[in-house]
Amino acid sequence: MKIKNICCIGAGYVGGPTMSVIAQKCPEINVTVVDLNEKRIAAWNDEDVENIPIYEPGLSGVVAEARGRNLFFSTDVDEAIDKADMIFISVNTPTKTYGIGKGMAADLKWIELCARQIARVATSDKIVVEKSTLPVRTAAALSDILHNTGNGVKYHILSNPEFLAEGTAVEDLHAPDRVLIGGDYTTEEGSKALQALVDVYAHWVPKENILTTNVWSSELSKLTANAFLAQRVSSINSLSELCEASGADVAEVARAIGKDSRIGPKFLQSSVGFGGSCFQKDILNLVYIAKSFGLNEVADYWEQVIIMNDHQKRRFAANIVKTLYNTVSGKKIAMLGWAFKKDTNDTRESAAIYVADYLLNERAEVVVYDPKVTSAQIYADLDYLGSRSEEENRNLVTVVNSPYEAIEDAHATAILTEWDEFKKLDWDKVFESMLKPAFLFDGRRLLERNEMEEKGFKFYSIGN
Ligand code: NAD
Ligand code: UGA
Repeated sequence: MKIKNICCIGAGYVGGPTMSVIAQKCPEINVTVVDLNEKRIAAWNDEDVENIPIYEPGLSGVVAEARGRNLFFSTDVDEAIDKADMIFISVNTPTKTYGIGKGMAADLKWIELCARQIARVATSDKIVVEKSTLPVRTAAALSDILHNTGNGVKYHILSNPEFLAEGTAVEDLHAPDRVLIGGDYTTEEGSKALQALVDVYAHWVPKENILTTNVWSSELSKLTANAFLAQRVSSINSLSELCEASGADVAEVARAIGKDSRIGPKFLQSSVGFGGSCFQKDILNLVYIAKSFGLNEVADYWEQVIIMNDHQKRRFAANIVKTLYNTVSGKKIAMLGWAFKKDTNDTRESAAIYVADYLLNERAEVVVYDPKVTSAQIYADLDYLGSRSEEENRNLVTVVNSPYEAIEDAHATAILTEWDEFKKLDWDKVFESMLKPAFLFDGRRLLERNEMEEKGFKFYSIGN
């Protein structure tokens, strides 16, 4: 089966970049990315390719190459579904905020809406690919919806979770460690559907890196991968506190254990806490699934990863207050960075939001600088927490366009995101323009203690 037309529902952080790369690498396949969000689609279609709605190094070049040739962005979901042989579902699956499973389970409302729309619109057989991260056994629900229309259209459901990380999405998509495809290889038709998707990726991914498996294992592997990654961050962060208490240096500990090839050096960077749209949501979902099978010890084990992460964010903020003589009321705190990691404009679940909220509860005046995040986004993130009125957030928080403006006359500076440009700041100039004593809190282990202390800073660094 040769795929000619692909539709992807959801033009977000996953749908946009993955489909752009598929279109780039498979010029003979037409790829249409659709979304209900008109503004987002308009931005993907913006004449100036630098205005696409997602900031990812290298992405605008990929879009420029394929857009208009075989890559299209549209709000006409029905038409794209009808035309496609293969439909990726890449919509959001956030944590439920209501009802059963509130605060834990994944909200599958948007996934189900997609399935119902496909069922309503499709007039020819389709391969439906789960690209969103989903609880194990979601494919059974999709199949139920799709196969109960009575119109004779046949569907094959595949699971193809995405492992890209933001900030390195294009790199990750061009050279993935692996592509994972779950399908029903016990039937001839199922195997053909699986092979059709393997063939798409085989345009640029070496065959040995394309893993095929059954649907349930594929769905669960995605949640597991994120749980393991987040667990490493929480593990090293738990030890950062012990390092601070005992005089050890967490970076040295990470270096020493990372040399063990069984442990490996990656994902051992201690920080103010992990953020991002997925780690927390996917672990909470894993905990919920385990609980729903009655596996309480399994659930408790993974929940600790979240508990430790919340502790790390809180303890960073609490340390600022404690160090500033137990009060930050009316004091100016400069926050450098708001994104959940460098090289992205995504702020979902960013540690910075929670640190700011903590400081605002202590009546600090917070000034934020981030090279890629807009002030509208920063206020929206704080408003969403509901800790205080929108007016208060705007009174207490100022967003500025330069790091030097942020630190001017600040009582303390805190680094929340590891943007490269923060390393290159003129730290002598920063010291000069801050109030004294000049407190500097490095939540990302970006700066050298000796160097900063020599300049005169009162320096605090995670895990050292
Ligand atoms: P996102 O919120 O950026 O994008 C989802 C898009 O889907 C939105 O633009 C929304 O308008 C659209 N949408 C929702 N329902 C729709 C419908 N019925 N019809 C048309 N459009 C619809 O989300 P994202 O970050 O791209 O994540 C998507 C999925 O991929 C999630 O399940 C997430 O867990 C998973 N994932 C995300 C990442 C990441 O780095 N962000 C990485 C791997 C996997
Ligand atoms: C993560 C995974 O790395 C991807 O494989 C996965 O596809 C994605 O989630 C997803 O499912 O959404 P992402 O959240 O984009 O990707 O970014 P990461 O690089 O994993 O970083 C997550 C958070 O952990 C960031 O806040 C980062 O600063 C923090 N982190 C990461 C650390 O504090 N220390 C580390 O050593 C690594």
